[in-house]
Amino acid sequence: MKKVYVETYGCQMNEYDSEIVKTVLADRDYELVDSLSDADIVLLNTCSVRENANRKIYGRVHRIKHQRNGEEVKIGILGCMATNFRRKLLDDGSLPIDFIAGPDSYKRLPDLIENLEVEGAKPFDVTLSEFETYADVYPSCREKGVNAWVAVMRGCDNFCTFCVVPYTRGRERSREPENVTEEVRRLADEGFRQVTLLGQNVNSYRSNGHDFADLLEMVSSVAGIERIRFTSPHPKDFPRRLLRVINANPKVCRHIHLPLQAGSDRVLEMMARTYTRQEYLDLVDEVRDLCPNIVLTTDIIVGFPTETDEEFEETVEVMERVRYDAAFIFKYSERPQTIASRKFPDDVPDAVKSARTVRLNDIQQAHTLERNRAHIGQTHEVLIDEERTKKSDEDYQGRNDGNKIVIFPKGAYRRGQFVTVRITDATPSVLRGEVTDVLTR
Ligand code: SAH
Ligand code: SF4
Ligand code: F3S
Repeated sequence: MKKVYVETYGCQMNEYDSEIVKTVLADRDYELVDSLSDADIVLLNTCSVRENANRKIYGRVHRIKHQRNGEEVKIGILGCMATNFRRKLLDDGSLPIDFIAGPDSYKRLPDLIENLEVEGAKPFDVTLSEFETYADVYPSCREKGVNAWVAVMRGCDNFCTFCVVPYTRGRERSREPENVTEEVRRLADEGFRQVTLLGQNVNSYRSNGHDFADLLEMVSSVAGIERIRFTSPHPKDFPRRLLRVINANPKVCRHIHLPLQAGSDRVLEMMARTYTRQEYLDLVDEVRDLCPNIVLTTDIIVGFPTETDEEFEETVEVMERVRYDAAFIFKYSERPQTIASRKFPDDVPDAVKSARTVRLNDIQQAHTLERNRAHIGQTHEVLIDEERTKKSDEDYQGRNDGNKIVIFPKGAYRRGQFVTVRITDATPSVLRGEVTDVLTR
């Protein structure tokens, strides 16, 4: 029986896909192991969204070879680097890897691994499919915990000019809502309390005449699942009805990740984001009118080609207006194949990108602290996910509805239960408090 070790990089979709990969292999009698040193086969489920994600994998492959010190071990590259770098990885031989499988080829993994026995062959399959949704694979090898990932759609048709995802993951396609609901029902039976619905562009979900708002309603009818999260939505797909469903449905968490990317209309247009700064701000107002206490987070890219200091200041202005609960700031990284890489030279110096990143992170740190401190004195429902924290065995931690980490003293409650916590302190990264009640649901 061959032993397989899987390591996952990148976004939550890759986490979910690794669970699919493990399930496909376990069903074909491979043994899954938790340690690299026990493995005959190492699978790296990779990300390609920025160059540093790629570099991490190059370093990792060499370290694995070094660590195994001449022992026989086969290395397979899965995920977004597979599609993006197939030729380079296999043909130029700079990386000692043995096979490659793209995000739509995981059912073929056992065959690819069997082909490894053929002398000299480096098997690969990076074909992207218009239909593959793995609807027929129920990931039984999931990470244990209170949350389960569920991919409801895959791929992306937006072609934001900076982004490699449409090339690495192919066209948009959605699973049938009944199939998603069936998976969620099984998850509830297994004891999961929360599901996070995933898609590269999750709110453009569409299947059999149902949209994302319908899907949220169908999933929320599953007894036992108490919280529903989703990521990542695109600002272009927020019809009012979806906002109403989010607001009216107590199981749907009050947190929206609303990627801004840039605050200047000229840059947004070059990025092909399809909204203007004003349209984005109007959406934020509409969201907050309907759901006043909603948590808003975002992604921002600094140093997109030709972005001037004045245009960067427009991003700062949007941040000051919205005052996000959290923001992920990225330096623009040119990706092969993308429209930006073909049309716009990467002309903002790295030092300028770095300075802009530091500035936005400082602003965000202040806003996060301000937002978190505003919770002091409030009482939040918290789903316990850890019976310890990074720093202490005397504390437990969980998440509130808005996905913020809440830490409180340990007591007569356990992982998977809901407690109410009165917030007494806040830092930019966590809220702290005292448990006031243990809920029975
Ligand atoms: N589908 C998601 C994005 C996935 S990538 C969405 O549209 O929200 C996550 C984030 O990485 C993006 O929101 C963007 O901010 C960032 N990103 C994507 N491509 C990038 C690039 N070439 N350089 C820097 N950051 C990038
Ligand atoms: Fe990339 Fe844009 Fe699609 Fe998000 S919406 S995955 S940023 S192309
Ligand atoms: Fe990375 Fe692919 Fe996800 S590029 S962010 S692993 S979709």
